[in-house]
Amino acid sequence: MFVDSLETLRKRRSAKWRTYPDDVLPMGVAELDCSLAPAVTAALRAAVEAADTGYSAAQPELGAAVAGFAARRWGWEVDPAAVTAVTDVGVGVVELLRMLTRPADTVVISPPVYPPFFDWPPEAGVQLREVPLTAEYRLDLPALEAAFAAHPAVYILCNPHNPVGRVHTPDELAALVRLAKLYGVTIISDEIHSPLVLPGARFTPMLTVPGAAEVTVSLMSASKAFNLAGLKCAAIVTGGAAMAALVERFPPDIRWRTGHLGVVATVAAFTDGDAWLDDLLAELDARRGQLGEQLRTRLPKITWTPPEATYLAWLDCRALGEDNEPREMFLSRARVGLEPGTRFGARGAGFVRLNFGTSADILDEATARMASATDR
Ligand SMILES: Cc1ncc(COP(=O)(O)O)c(C=O)c1O
Repeated sequence: MFVDSLETLRKRRSAKWRTYPDDVLPMGVAELDCSLAPAVTAALRAAVEAADTGYSAAQPELGAAVAGFAARRWGWEVDPAAVTAVTDVGVGVVELLRMLTRPADTVVISPPVYPPFFDWPPEAGVQLREVPLTAEYRLDLPALEAAFAAHPAVYILCNPHNPVGRVHTPDELAALVRLAKLYGVTIISDEIHSPLVLPGARFTPMLTVPGAAEVTVSLMSASKAFNLAGLKCAAIVTGGAAMAALVERFPPDIRWRTGHLGVVATVAAFTDGDAWLDDLLAELDARRGQLGEQLRTRLPKITWTPPEATYLAWLDCRALGEDNEPREMFLSRARVGLEPGTRFGARGAGFVRLNFGTSADILDEATARMASATDR
């Protein structure tokens, strides 16, 4: 993975590089610091040079690209016609919730989890119920059963799970499907991090779990793995008529709201990006190892469970005794910008999330700065 110097990275105008002043190392927002996959750059360059910058008309290329990627990476057979372009994962989830719920309904999520999971249900006008992950960061199936028995409309699954990096097992997903069917709950499976499953773990697409297609809608995107978040394209995938009918009922204007360059880039990434992605995964594996080693030697009071997927590390800083807001301490004393654990739910107090999708040098600088702040 080629990562530019900090000086060059600071010229980026995206959220990661605009959140803090220049003396802060930004290790928060989930963007990658590497250059784009060559296939993506070539596709975007060709589109711009041809002034091919109008409205998106994603079909049929997007469906074919998603289906090809799913088949090659996980042996998952996706019907290209069952793939629908949408602005981003957030828009996709909110529109699905609008189709699946009525005002008094409840939606269940499992914190600690990606902060917008807390915002999407209220945006769609429904209540939220939290069923936290277990202490080992696994789905708490007995607690989920108790919650499902009250007949919530939807469970939003995060697989792989941001911020803890858990890749849920086939058995866990099968148990979830059984509960969803038993209690009439629809599962929205956010699989945006699935291309980022690291060596040692294996991803199970929810729609490959027997029986899941009747009760599951999945969302895929190239935006995390290929750093395309600003281009605005994600894909809703269904595996059966009932779930496909939900998408068919979407307001017609939705299709005009996907980024055309997002579709162009996503098609290139999912069609011709495998070799680049494999290199990226090897690099991220190395960064994960580097972070583990540097936490052990430089920041021994911080504990973590190395993630099975993603470039995000969920760091337990409670032993530092920083009034449960270590993010403020690392920002003010170390000038390192991290995501505060409390954004991922109340039990995130005392935690931070660190993005290691960067160069060995920048990660080294971040942990050195953090260590000197805790030494004081
Ligand atoms: C689990 C999860 N879902 C969705 C998103 C955001 O996706 P999008 O920008 O497509 O809405 C992120 C971004 O980090 C994420 O981690």
